Amino acid sequence: MRAGGSDPIREAVRLLAERRNAVALTGAGISVESGIPSFRGAQGMWAKYDPMEYATLRAFLQSPRKVWEMLSEMVSVCGGAVPNAAHKWLAALEETGVVRAVITQNVDGLHQAAGSRRVIEYHGNMEELICVFCWKRYPTRERWTPGAVPLCDCGEILKPNVVLFGEPIPWLAQEQAEEEARTCGVLLVIGTSAQVSPACDIPRIAKESGAAVVEINTEPTPLTVSVTDIHLRGSASEVLRRLLEELSMDDETSPSTPSGH
Ligand code: APR
Repeated sequence: MRAGGSDPIREAVRLLAERRNAVALTGAGISVESGIPSFRGAQGMWAKYDPMEYATLRAFLQSPRKVWEMLSEMVSVCGGAVPNAAHKWLAALEETGVVRAVITQNVDGLHQAAGSRRVIEYHGNMEELICVFCWKRYPTRERWTPGAVPLCDCGEILKPNVVLFGEPIPWLAQEQAEEEARTCGVLLVIGTSAQVSPACDIPRIAKESGAAVVEINTEPTPLTVSVTDIHLRGSASEVLRRLLEELSMDDETSPSTPSGH
């Protein structure tokens, strides 16, 4: 934890309360407590599936049935997952006006399911399939069955509308995410290893634009030493719970709160 020896949670709360225009950047770590494996680390998806063989656009186009072996696992795990406390605390921070947007690298739709309203899906989402030939789109639940490879009406194989390695970020999501990073007062970076570009550039954009970077992660990342101002080490659900607790105590005690009416 950084922040000069004072209590980092109190320091983070002070920044959030004073600036009140925080944006969150989330990664797979926030969904781990919903039962969705992260990508990196001993139990991660990439320990089981080599991303260069299973998660690139080239691999999908060359061997779509093989890539669907990994995609099927992701679809069924995401389909069965529900938001955990971390998603709900983050939605509560938006409700109270502390957080104004969530930029997520995740494709599980759990932020919206938890009640977050302004969610920028930087890597797309698993809930839609798209035909790489005729571009027709379908809700995943209508076309995907476990073990089968979903087909378009035109006969071609469908792909989840997620960003595989080698694919561009949806331009609107990238524009919106960078605008949020440039104009926020605090960037909460939650549960990401910050190893995949261009998502990992977002904290640097925020920092260079004057935001304070508060990192919530069980481990240090490449950001921790070079970009992060306050590293709150711990699980997303526990740290977000403490931030909300401290913020609500401040609200009760802060002189700006109307006394009783
Ligand atoms: N609370 C907070 N952080 C956690 C928790 C938790 N409960 N559990 C794990 N983490 C942290 C890990 O320490 C790690 O830093 O979450 C991070 C997960 O990192 P990755 O698995 O690399 O996931 P992510 O950063 O989202 O990956 C980015 O890479 O493979 C691509 O497209 C994929 O969107 C993904 C992108």
